[in-house]
Amino acid sequence: MNNAVSISIIFSVALLLQIPKLSAAGGGSSKRGGAEECNLFQGIWVRDAAGDYPLYNESTCPFIQPEFNCQKNGRIDRGYLGYRWEPLGASCSLARFNASFFMSNVMRGRTMMFVGDSLSRNQWQSLLCIIHSSLPTATYTTSFQGSTTIYTFPHYENARIMLDRNVFLVDVVSEKTGRVLKLDSIEAGKRWLGADYLIFNTWHWWNRRGPSQPWDFIQVGRELVKDMDRTAAFGLALTTWAAWVESNIDPAKTLVFYQGISPSHYNGSEWGEPGVTSCGKEHQPLLGPTYPGGLPPALALLKNILANIRGVPVHFLDITNLSLLRKDGHPSIYGLDGRLDCSHWCLAGVPDTWNVILYNILLENWQLLR
Ligand SMILES: *[C@@H]1O[C@H](CO)[C@@H](O)[C@H](O)[C@H]1NC(C)=O
Ligand SMILES: *[C@@H]1O[C@H](CO)[C@@H](O)[C@H](O)[C@H]1NC(C)=O
Ligand SMILES: *[C@@H]1O[C@H](CO)[C@@H](O)[C@H](O)[C@H]1NC(C)=O
Ligand SMILES: *[C@@H]1O[C@H](CO)[C@@H](O)[C@H](O)[C@H]1NC(C)=O
Repeated sequence: MNNAVSISIIFSVALLLQIPKLSAAGGGSSKRGGAEECNLFQGIWVRDAAGDYPLYNESTCPFIQPEFNCQKNGRIDRGYLGYRWEPLGASCSLARFNASFFMSNVMRGRTMMFVGDSLSRNQWQSLLCIIHSSLPTATYTTSFQGSTTIYTFPHYENARIMLDRNVFLVDVVSEKTGRVLKLDSIEAGKRWLGADYLIFNTWHWWNRRGPSQPWDFIQVGRELVKDMDRTAAFGLALTTWAAWVESNIDPAKTLVFYQGISPSHYNGSEWGEPGVTSCGKEHQPLLGPTYPGGLPPALALLKNILANIRGVPVHFLDITNLSLLRKDGHPSIYGLDGRLDCSHWCLAGVPDTWNVILYNILLENWQLLR
């Protein structure tokens, strides 16, 4: 990479890191039970005594892909299914997910689109299962449009809940030289226009190397480079996405969410078991509020980019902290073809809580849309 480009990248990332705090629009706060602000993302996992969890029986949910269906794949322990997220603060609580209310009101005649990688798919399938378990007779049709999979619920004025698989948000274009990851191009955004609720995510693919890296060059401005600092590339792509949000989203018509960084568990030193190199033997969450290994550094970069979006409130699903505590929630060898997977999440499982929090934020915002 040419020096001017690398210096300007480092400089812009450094600038982003200096800006101190998230704007009030940064979602997840709620004023339930009084004027006191409540952060739904700070809390602890407790065993559910009310018998609500798991929120559905995975064997009767038609939406789960085999790779997330840990019980079907032979996972025997069930303890991980019985935890409920409890936000800290006396006046702070999560409303139960009422699927009937959700479909009849929040979703009636509307469209929700998840955009992102397989962690978005994880959350999307979890949401569909939560709905299905309460409304098992709600019929739906399945359709495909390019990279988008759509479930339509005719009984709710064609409410649609869809996933656009897009691992970088910015474009990868095949050119004569090879496949180019274009950090400042976001043509795919055309497919996102018109949705009422958009929930974005990108992260896990930025650190891929070797055969599973789906590009040959990165384009930064007018430079074509063979590689660069991946966190910086992620930051530039997100900045492109943020500019897209500012110039394409009408906040009276669309609510925008960003699903934060979903953590993996391959390094036991992070949770006090040095020498452990996977989640394979984890059957319990960490029961305090703090993950000893700390937060991934890219999270600060992400928060600063979100905080600088002007004119469009972007609700941040700050799931990193609560998910870090769930070293027990991954498929491990009960995922795809028995391969070790400490990145995705079993369903039922942790993404159900992401959706309960999403639902709680929607309860306070869905009526704002025209
Ligand atoms: C889940 O549903 C299946 C099929 O109806 C049933 O056999 C199983 O007992 C259920 N599991 C639980 C934990 O309720
Ligand atoms: C769930 O929502 C429906 C439809 O709005 C309502 O009739 C029902 O009382 C709600 N259930 C609970 C437990 O609040
Ligand atoms: C595992 O985590 C520890 C503590 O955070 C860190 O010092 C170490 O470098 C990590 N090991 C690997 C292989 O990433
Ligand atoms: C997560 O949130 C809690 C507050 O609930 C905080 O004490 C903790 O330091 C945060 N970070 C990590 C990495 O656990």
